[in-house]
Amino acid sequence: MKPNRPQTIWNTIARQRPELFLFIGDNIYGDTEDMDVMRRKYQALADNPDFAAFRKAVPIMATWDDHDYGKNDAGEEYPMKEESKKVFLEFFEEGEKSSRWDHPGVYHSEILGSGNQSIQIILLDTRSFRTPLVKKERGKSLPGLYQPNPDKDARMLGEEQWTWLEGELRKPAALRIIASSVQVIAEEHGWEGWTNFPYERQRLFDLIESTRANGVIFISGDRHLCELSRWDKGPYPLYDLTSSGMNSEERWPPDDSNPFRVGKGSRRNNFGLIDVNWSKPDPQVHLHVLGKNGDALISEQFPLSRLSP
Ligand SMILES: [Fe+2]
Repeated sequence: MKPNRPQTIWNTIARQRPELFLFIGDNIYGDTEDMDVMRRKYQALADNPDFAAFRKAVPIMATWDDHDYGKNDAGEEYPMKEESKKVFLEFFEEGEKSSRWDHPGVYHSEILGSGNQSIQIILLDTRSFRTPLVKKERGKSLPGLYQPNPDKDARMLGEEQWTWLEGELRKPAALRIIASSVQVIAEEHGWEGWTNFPYERQRLFDLIESTRANGVIFISGDRHLCELSRWDKGPYPLYDLTSSGMNSEERWPPDDSNPFRVGKGSRRNNFGLIDVNWSKPDPQVHLHVLGKNGDALISEQFPLSRLSP
């Protein structure tokens, strides 16, 4: 969300009557090591009348990506991560102190609802522990700046976060939404994503398999595009619903190839919507991405039982 551009998309989202909004990174463009500047930029978001009205009406949970963490494409080397985390939590947790004040990074999880209608929200931190990216070699045909890191020790999450995630995946839940700021599945763009860390990505898929965690859906953003990707080599179809940006439409590059893409993507301003119809014996899951006027850009539905090992 670009802080200095109109944010009328909040009104379109509110009309969907969401029970929860997940703000999954690049929530502001902080891009600074000066925490006064960071605070001022969050304040600009708070002062936006459309956001302010939305925030009163809809609960929000958040994690971060590079720009609100503090630096474009940054990982663990960003020197102000602890200070920036404090500003982030002060803004999003407003005095309610969750357990993430007590560990490094902003990863967090909650289970909403109960029994066979429970939804687990897992917010990953893909910044605080991430080792540096590998710049693309000359002659590589990827559109972006980076190529996969062949080093087995290169990190996306770090050991503590992996241990926590394993524990979370072993908890019972009917549906699990895992929010990763950067895309999990798409791999041919050369920008940031789990594709930059192939061993970490395989570890993620393997963890879902070894914990027998049912009901996983990934959501991601960052790319200034929306698309739905599907990974068919896991224990069941793993979807990655990417929605971005909210008011930062970019037309370049016009398209990139993604063999995992289901249907079409779009570069128009957009937001994602996950809707579950619990009234059926096998609940129906509906994944959407909507444009800023509420028009459908992506729509895919399936029974929840499809997401079972
Ligand atoms: Fe980003």
